[in-house]
Amino acid sequence: MDARTNPCVSVHNFWAHSGAGMWRGIAEVVEKCYFCGKISMAMTNYNFDNVIDRHGTACVKIDRLDAVFGRHDLTPLWIADLDFAVCPQITEALIERLQHPVLGYSEAADSYWQSIIDWNRRRHSFGIAKDELCFIPGVVKGIALAVNYFTERGDAVVIQPPVYTPFRTVVEGNGRRVVENPLIPTGDSYEMDLDGLRDVIAREQPKLLILCNPHNPIGIQWSEATLAELARICREGGVTVVSDEIHGDLCLDGRPHIPFLACGEDARAVGIMLGAPSKTFNIPGLVSSWMVVKNPALRDPFYKWMEVNEFNAPVMISTIGAEAAYNNGEEWLDQMLAYVQSNIDFVDDYIRRNIPGLRIVRPQASFLVWLDFRDLHMCQREIMDLLLDKAHLALNDGSMFGAQGEGFARLNVGTPRCVLAHALDSLRTAVCCNCNCTSNN
Ligand SMILES: Cc1ncc(COP(=O)(O)O)c(C=O)c1O
Repeated sequence: MDARTNPCVSVHNFWAHSGAGMWRGIAEVVEKCYFCGKISMAMTNYNFDNVIDRHGTACVKIDRLDAVFGRHDLTPLWIADLDFAVCPQITEALIERLQHPVLGYSEAADSYWQSIIDWNRRRHSFGIAKDELCFIPGVVKGIALAVNYFTERGDAVVIQPPVYTPFRTVVEGNGRRVVENPLIPTGDSYEMDLDGLRDVIAREQPKLLILCNPHNPIGIQWSEATLAELARICREGGVTVVSDEIHGDLCLDGRPHIPFLACGEDARAVGIMLGAPSKTFNIPGLVSSWMVVKNPALRDPFYKWMEVNEFNAPVMISTIGAEAAYNNGEEWLDQMLAYVQSNIDFVDDYIRRNIPGLRIVRPQASFLVWLDFRDLHMCQREIMDLLLDKAHLALNDGSMFGAQGEGFARLNVGTPRCVLAHALDSLRTAVCCNCNCTSNN
């Protein structure tokens, strides 16, 4: 019996939108108990299978295919946003505010800060005091602000490749020096090279380390022991740590996220944590992020500098969208993570059965899958030609994350299953064709 025919259940609010061939149906159902008459909200089922046409929305993922890949006949599985409709309460909150005719200078409401504090306590058992929080206009800009404030031109900054490309470009673009402490491959994953870190610090005397926690592109949630040891080494070496935790809400398989600042006294002494609802709720277009610094000696002068330059000035719709997401988006997030997890299982299973020679590194967090092409014995150019020209797929080239990414590509699985199935079929055909050609030559 469905919600509309069951006498105990009435459809309270049905929100459907049709346009450009798409359908978005989300039902909120009020359930009335047959015996006691008690009314409760039933779980909303979000539909992540819907294919939403994003063309012409100035979205980077589709509308920049030509500019980035030189062609547009590609299935877009690259830049890290999701193809899913956002949780409707976010849209509703934005619409409600935009219906007011005046869009003047605004400040972030107390309820905005509280939503971040409550979220971190609820989801990660991580306590934040209001004065430890600061708005930042995006996580990459937060990294750039820290690089500019805590280092001088020519100073060394440590990154741990293969890692998110802007960690390098922000440092180099600001006239600082990247020093690498590459991750160590362990066969089916990677680990952090803590001995290597000691050596790099002793040799290069860096001022800053940029940590990716969880780690993009591989999706590793670092353990508390690793993070605590990294903090100890950095504190001893006088290195400030910027911990980018934008993927922190996206831990999979019920695994907890471990904020760097929750890893002991050393971490609190040296750490700057950057977080955001952008990946979590698929709202990167709202450009809403925040920073936490626990150590007042680190925080007070930095936040003062942010303040006088107004780098911390909240953007009205960012804070409204973020607050709605943190307060109302938990159910959406849990269902989205379950969907992403099943997409990862689907990709893993498909590749094992159908594309010998290709392997995946299973992510512990987020919706990005690190695809290992090395057993196919192709150079990076050949891998990218195969993906683009033969399979018509736009994936991120592994080498953009550092030389250590050669032989890999990054696949974004935050998309409806049917899109993924189509992409994998195309990849299988391209790989088979390529293997037949090379074995015939
Ligand atoms: C590790 C990491 N940091 C930062 C960003 C981008 O953050 P923002 O859009 O807030 O600058 C991304 C986006 O993919 C990311 O993966």
